[in-house]
Amino acid sequence: METEQATLAQQSAVAPVELEIRDLHARIDDKEILRGVNLTVRQGETHALMGPNGSGKSTLANVIMGHPRYEVTQGEIHFNGINLLELSPDKRARMGLFLAFQYPSSVPGVSVGNFLRRAMEAKRDGYDPHASETPSGEAPKRRGMPPAEFRKLLNEKMKLLKVDNTFVNRYINEGFSGGEKKRAEILQMAMLEPKMAVLDETDSGLDIDALRIVSEGVNALRGPNMGVLLITHYQRLLNYIHPDIVHVMYKGRIIRTGGPDLALELEQKGYEWLTGESVDDADESPAPTK
Ligand SMILES: Nc1ncnc2c1ncn2[C@@H]1O[C@H](COP(=O)(O)OP(=O)(O)O)[C@@H](O)[C@H]1O
Ligand SMILES: [Mg+2]
Repeated sequence: METEQATLAQQSAVAPVELEIRDLHARIDDKEILRGVNLTVRQGETHALMGPNGSGKSTLANVIMGHPRYEVTQGEIHFNGINLLELSPDKRARMGLFLAFQYPSSVPGVSVGNFLRRAMEAKRDGYDPHASETPSGEAPKRRGMPPAEFRKLLNEKMKLLKVDNTFVNRYINEGFSGGEKKRAEILQMAMLEPKMAVLDETDSGLDIDALRIVSEGVNALRGPNMGVLLITHYQRLLNYIHPDIVHVMYKGRIIRTGGPDLALELEQKGYEWLTGESVDDADESPAPTK
């Protein structure tokens, strides 16, 4: 398979990076949730993944991230030609895959600025398949990011995203509103300049402020070098972020893929139009409890 790998490496030098999901099946406990997901997102494209509550959208995000609670029973995920399922979440990130909520929510006393600095240093280390895992909590290796350079980049990104200077001195877990969490997340994304970002806008508390921060941020950052998989329960988010491609997930599968018009059509006709049965309107109802 060496030839195949060499070919992939050559391709990646020219071709856009792809996140390629093939026939993905995953379960939590004994419950099969993803039941054959096929999806390819390329660098430079923005895809929206929609669907009624309970369809498996967040499960897909969690599996892409490598959440240990989900078991992949079948199928593959490749990123830039590399089998993601064999990599730790940390390595996935260092390959240029961005997933929201990468910050350790249980570690107090870390400022936004410090957190971003660590994230940048980890990124600079890149992905080395032979490196051993760094246990969490260990002092980060300080490599290749002089403070002045970090500052300059940070200032640039804060300006781009219209983030207040004082924001980076705030402690990341202390009394952050939904909007501020989103701001930290988007700023992290801006700093890391990922090849692919997976954003799960799952929070039922996605208020107007948070909505604006996410959409302005994504629109400022999207471009030929970044692919976006925007998972949303909220049709109205797509009034602010215009996707190139829209997918609808239902019962663990993608049941329809189309252009931006698909989102508009869904808005008018509701999910029943595609599912053929009554479903909860994702825009109005909380997740069903079974
Ligand atoms: N941690 C979990 N434990 C048990 N069931 C879960 C868990 N996470 C998700 N599920 C179930 O998986 C299904 C899909 O959920 P989810 O991926 O959150 O859907 P969506 O994001 O599309 O609303 C739902 O039926 C949900 O109840
Ligand atoms: Mg969800």
